[in-house]
Amino acid sequence: MNLIIDRNGKIIKIEQEDLTAELLSGLRRRKSQKRLSGVRVISIANDQQLTSRQKNLVVRFRLDNLVKVSLQSNSVALVLPKIVEGKLAGIEERNLTIDQAVEFDQSTVVAQLEEDLTEVNNYRVKKDSQRAILIGKDEKELEELNGLATTAGAEVVAKVLQKQERKNPTYYIGTGKLEELKEAVFKQQSDLVIFDDELTPAQHSNLEEELAVQVTDRTELILDIFAQHAHTKEGKIQVELAQLDYLLPRLTGRGKQLSRLGGGIGTRGPGETKLEIDRRKIRKRIHRLKEQLAEVRQNRAVQRQGRRNPLITLVGYTNAGKSTLMNLLTAADVKVEDELFATLDSTLRQAKLPIGRQVIFSDTVGFIKKLPHQLVAAFQATLEEVQQADLLLHVVDSSQAQLEERMATVHQVLEELGVLNKEIITVFNKADLVADDYVELLRQNYPNSVAISALTGQGKDGLLDKISNIIARDMVIVDLELPYEAGKWIDQLHQAGRVLEEEYVANKIKITANISNRLARRLKDYQV
Ligand code: GTP
Repeated sequence: MNLIIDRNGKIIKIEQEDLTAELLSGLRRRKSQKRLSGVRVISIANDQQLTSRQKNLVVRFRLDNLVKVSLQSNSVALVLPKIVEGKLAGIEERNLTIDQAVEFDQSTVVAQLEEDLTEVNNYRVKKDSQRAILIGKDEKELEELNGLATTAGAEVVAKVLQKQERKNPTYYIGTGKLEELKEAVFKQQSDLVIFDDELTPAQHSNLEEELAVQVTDRTELILDIFAQHAHTKEGKIQVELAQLDYLLPRLTGRGKQLSRLGGGIGTRGPGETKLEIDRRKIRKRIHRLKEQLAEVRQNRAVQRQGRRNPLITLVGYTNAGKSTLMNLLTAADVKVEDELFATLDSTLRQAKLPIGRQVIFSDTVGFIKKLPHQLVAAFQATLEEVQQADLLLHVVDSSQAQLEERMATVHQVLEELGVLNKEIITVFNKADLVADDYVELLRQNYPNSVAISALTGQGKDGLLDKISNIIARDMVIVDLELPYEAGKWIDQLHQAGRVLEEEYVANKIKITANISNRLARRLKDYQV
């Protein structure tokens, strides 16, 4: 027997037949993609199992949930919709005892799921559609903004220079410049204007009012790029927090404009009439995200404690080639899937150095000039990876004209993180793009540096040697005699160190190996 029940607990349909799509098809339900249907199904039968087709009805009809009560056993199967990134993305199953089923708090769970459905993490430049006009103080800065805008998926159709030092509190720019901008928007059929500096909430809304197109600034653009690049749970939480923090004071102006604009950053945000509700919702969401983040951090701390191998963290200005280098250095190794790391950032990878030592490489977010403060705050947890590192590789794009400026920006961030006293290897990357003499000069000017092309692999061995020399300081060569029963140590010696000699004699194994001090301490009893 199947009961269909609405949110008020009213039974709206009872059927004797099997649970199929027919049962639900004629029902009046909420159609909004941001809500669940408002109905749940309780299915009572002799047998226990639901078929996958039946479970999928939850997704197909956006059911609040589906409960299967079996008359033969004492358990209840609960099928709930699963929400990922604000979208219905499958089902989640739970088996409950009768007591748990009685305790099940239907309204709280539904409210939570619907909150997840309205996740605000969608303020991004729409790929392929937006024609952007950039406005900033000088060519060089605009060049970088151009890079950011293109990365975010916009097409840059014009650039406007704005030299005036004093900022106009109403429009940020003077009224003459505003007219020029209006004309450019009209001529270029632009639908997005990007300011190089951070706009105040008032300037933001005044500009949108005047220009009648979407206006954004450097901060929002960077947040947007981060949103597109965040892949891990932690990264996503951090970006969303930063976005909401940025958005909250800007809600008032936006409502007016965004209700009539279409597409792009913020448009799927709140409409004017819903402002107060949305502000409350956003605050609630911020609160929840912070809780989640605290949980993730806690897990991370636990995982760190269990980490035996040295951590080598790549840092660098955005686009320096960190990910490419990471792939080069760890290509032969699969992604770390040891359960200890399973929930960690996918940018943690294990590799074995030529000296036989297992190490973990970790990639970090790219640094950038004027990194929005919301992001620095939100990304504190990820940046802890930098603080925990045993060795930092500062990856530099040698082909960049503003190489020194960018290196200085990175140093500044490292200083803020309090890690400048760590061992750092400067890696002059993209050596294939510049003259040999030039890289050589760079190498001489910076101590502890190497030249490399992460793309062609040129210089890889030199870098590995340098890394090995530093890591080897923590290693010793030991002579061991292990009984055959101690087989698990032998595996570990092969895995985490380099076995130099191995000899099987009567009832024991003699091994000479180069291993970490830590492992050597644990094998103290077997040393000869
Ligand atoms: P963010 O994610 O922005 O921090 O960038 P990243 O530092 O991880 O840089 P990524 O590895 O994504 O490389 C940026 C671009 O530089 C890509 O187009 C790479 O193909 C290119 N690149 C990286 N290393 C080299 C190199 O050694 N030579 C050349 N010619 N191109 C390179």
